[in-house]
Amino acid sequence: MLNAESFTSSRRPWLYRSLVIACALTMTAIAPTARAEIGAGTPEQSDPHVALDRTLTRIGFGSCAEGGKEQPIWEAVLAARPELFLFLGDNVYGDTRDMAVLRAKYAEFAQQPGFAQLRATTPIAVTWDDHDFGEDDAGGDYPQKEASRQVFLDFWGEPADSPRRARDGVYASYVFGPPGQRVQVILLDLRYNRTPLVKPEPGVRNYRSWARARYKKGLEVPGPYARNPDPKATMLGERQWQWLERQLETPADVRLIGSSVQVLADFPGWEGWSLFAHDQQRLIELIRRKRANGVVFLSGDMHYAELSKLDVNVPYTLWDLTSSGLTEVWPAATPNANRVSDVIREPNFGLIDIDWQGAETTVTLSVVDQRGARRIEQRLALADLSTRP
Ligand SMILES: [Fe+2]
Repeated sequence: MLNAESFTSSRRPWLYRSLVIACALTMTAIAPTARAEIGAGTPEQSDPHVALDRTLTRIGFGSCAEGGKEQPIWEAVLAARPELFLFLGDNVYGDTRDMAVLRAKYAEFAQQPGFAQLRATTPIAVTWDDHDFGEDDAGGDYPQKEASRQVFLDFWGEPADSPRRARDGVYASYVFGPPGQRVQVILLDLRYNRTPLVKPEPGVRNYRSWARARYKKGLEVPGPYARNPDPKATMLGERQWQWLERQLETPADVRLIGSSVQVLADFPGWEGWSLFAHDQQRLIELIRRKRANGVVFLSGDMHYAELSKLDVNVPYTLWDLTSSGLTEVWPAATPNANRVSDVIREPNFGLIDIDWQGAETTVTLSVVDQRGARRIEQRLALADLSTRP
């Protein structure tokens, strides 16, 4: 249980500290019940573990920040004034089994002035992807995953007694706002328990030469991975699946599910839910079974931004807004049959604007570049994000 002493200690979580700052700025109090929930109960019972009775109208998110590069994107992020910012992974590029190196990368990130300003003024919530988890495309067999998890939780300010520290991963869930205007944020961990990838793509011995040949012919170039047909293949692992089931039982009006890799893109051949078809189908069926309304997927990892949409064999039309990367420029987009937008191959971040108007509420999904221009914009009626009887 969080007490008054720990609330004021220097080890209080960044998200919570930022919430306090935000509340002080807006003269809005954190819900007393939410305070009691923080750090309480078993890991399974403790989520959603942070709540704010202030209504959210603008949430930002991003992924893929290369620490050795200039990061001018933060000026545009700060100018957009998000009320909450989500980091969807590859927040630093550790790419190491040496935890001293990983800690140094985080320390370097902390020195980025724009990030430091965001962290000091804006509530943030975080998950990881392969490069801050450990290594390129790494999964559950990465030998330093538990040590890396501790480095992650320490850097992002998770308190020593937080139930999140007892999990098989860094997944977490949060709730913001009063009933009728409630936003649930679910951040998944797609690394800690992920079974091995299937590679190379069948029939391709040397991926690089194959990809180069396709590129020269002007053809799309899928990545080097194939779908894993094994029904036991998973990204989440069973404990996280059970946890996710409980989160989707939580009443909420908008549910932002943060996934470090793309959920709906089909078929890029790089890492994504499409490689784990059983997991992908299980996720869709879970939304249907729990009648979990208001779901919008947010994803990263690709080093470009795009919007994907799936409206076949789903409980309602599903959307996946990919924003990546905060510092990256990517030469070419990979295939995606579910893409419904331009591909933005310059540094970018995502925005979700919610216009709370009762039954007429809208959710606008945007991708913004570092000049502050909205390069992708899609307005959704919240009423359409629901399972009809
Ligand atoms: Fe990644």
